[in-house]
Amino acid sequence: MGNKMKNIAVLVSGGGSNLQAIIDAIETGFIRDAKISCVISSKEDAFGLKRARNHNIESIFLDASGLSREEYTEKIIETLNDRKIDLVCLAGFMMILSPKIVQTYSHKIINIHPALLPKFGGKGMYGIHVHEKVIEEREKYTGATVHFVDEGCDTGSVIIQEKVEVNGITDPKELQQKVLKIEHKIYPIAVKMFIEEKI
Ligand code: GRF
Repeated sequence: MGNKMKNIAVLVSGGGSNLQAIIDAIETGFIRDAKISCVISSKEDAFGLKRARNHNIESIFLDASGLSREEYTEKIIETLNDRKIDLVCLAGFMMILSPKIVQTYSHKIINIHPALLPKFGGKGMYGIHVHEKVIEEREKYTGATVHFVDEGCDTGSVIIQEKVEVNGITDPKELQQKVLKIEHKIYPIAVKMFIEEKI
């Protein structure tokens, strides 16, 4: 009651299937009192931008070429400030931003990682590499983690985590698909918890 509508920004670089999961969760009413005010992509041809347009969400391509990490981060911060963003969701966003964004949007930036952090996080642990490593290490379980973004790489506090059995899968792409299903389930839950101030 009396809750004001919260503004979410989703940052993508690729397919945006996690973005889609959040869009769907808002459209079905699972997440209330929030809207995606903009989708920002570091890649012009990211399918995530198309998903945004399909749902009449402002889609913004922010080009990093020729900019330092600090300058690019500044551009992102300006874009977020202009739209009075309450929550920033990183969803397959492939750029590493300067610490300034973490200071400016402290505890307002969340990320999804396709493994059970703190395992299989950090440098080089992104995309398919994560799943290759999980298979290589013969892990019994993998999963997905939504966490706050801090100044480290995949080190912020965990909001929600769910595991899934590797079950002898040896194809990293197959494992990636299995984990993506978990991601699409837990990311909207984390967003809902944030919006309802239950974290
Ligand atoms: C996901 O696996 C996410 O965990 C990782 O990048 C991937 C993005 O997929 N950070 P999508 O663009 O949401 O489909």
